[in-house]
Amino acid sequence: MTAIVEPGVRLPHTAEQVAAYVVATAVWAPSVHNTQPWQFVADGTEITLRADVGRQLAVADPSGREMLLSCGAALFTAKLALRSLGYVPETRVLPDPADPLLVARLRWRRQVAPAAGEERLLSQVTRRRTHRGGFEPVPPPASLIQALRQEAAGYGAALRVAITDQGRAALAAITQMADRVERLDSAYVRELAAWAPPPGSARLDGVPPSAYPAHPESTRPNFPARDFARGRGWGLPSSTRISAVRFTGAVCLLTTPADGPMSWVNAGQALQRMLLSSTASGVAAALHSQPVEVGWLREAIREQLGDGSYPQLVIRLGIAIQDAISVRRAVPSVLRTATATVRTRSGSPAAA
Ligand SMILES: Cc1cc2nc3c(=O)[nH]c(=O)nc-3n(C[C@H](O)[C@H](O)[C@H](O)COP(=O)(O)O)c2cc1C
Repeated sequence: MTAIVEPGVRLPHTAEQVAAYVVATAVWAPSVHNTQPWQFVADGTEITLRADVGRQLAVADPSGREMLLSCGAALFTAKLALRSLGYVPETRVLPDPADPLLVARLRWRRQVAPAAGEERLLSQVTRRRTHRGGFEPVPPPASLIQALRQEAAGYGAALRVAITDQGRAALAAITQMADRVERLDSAYVRELAAWAPPPGSARLDGVPPSAYPAHPESTRPNFPARDFARGRGWGLPSSTRISAVRFTGAVCLLTTPADGPMSWVNAGQALQRMLLSSTASGVAAALHSQPVEVGWLREAIREQLGDGSYPQLVIRLGIAIQDAISVRRAVPSVLRTATATVRTRSGSPAAA
């Protein structure tokens, strides 16, 4: 795991060091299938974040919605890293309509000491793990759910909690159906396989067997996990520390009032903010995007909501004992300096 500079320890001084620190932190954001679909370019006291379409899921995510959600999560994390250094991030999201892959420009000039809450969130960035399976039979605190709803609202999104048994069962049934539809689609299965490296792989992206249980855990109602192992028996052995009864947890839906790149980036920011808050409170999250990847099932959820808002992700929250290990690409793979960019394009070092 990449070491993150803790606030107050070996603080980066130069703009290059700040950029490297910010990116080393941002890469720990969640991303669909751990595609890490981002590229950062540092130019003095500015970082640009670009979506990397080469890492987009062409089958599961043809519109790039989940790619931009993932980039939004990285953007929130980058801003948090700047705050931990005492910088006030100046952010422009999707600043150039002619360049839709330019997700954000992030500058830092002014300094204001970070708040305790910001440092608390930062300390969770490398601790947070996506959970796959059931939860311990203890519900997440109601006060946390209330706080998460406010955090989502701060980004123009909404976190809706399925309170009734009927609502939970309906979302579970749609997730099961979506999962089945995807498993029957050979192009989808090939794409998933490309992002599910085998045990012992040296890859630093994709979902490794150290990140999911070998024996999928079932809950009532059941929200199926992605089939990363594809019948090969890969995955973590069952932990003896978990309780025999597995709970579904609090079933939530992240929605936005509109459906376009700005909503997706902001939903991603809201997602990472909520995931870090949850982790700080000892609550883990399982993410299910199958039901929003199958168009007609996404539409079915939207019709049920009845207020025209767009589902972006199903999130289950609960108490989990986690052994999962995830991987990330190293900073040099995702961060370039503006000078190096110019050199690459022109082929001439002098052109910088
Ligand atoms: C938009 C989005 C959709 C995701 N969908 C799923 C999903 O359907 N199933 C799942 O197990 N994980 C899902 N994830 C979690 C990623 O697989 C996870 O973030 C990635 O593997 C990195 O692992 P980590 O979150 O433990 O650091 C999703 C994440 C994002 C940002």
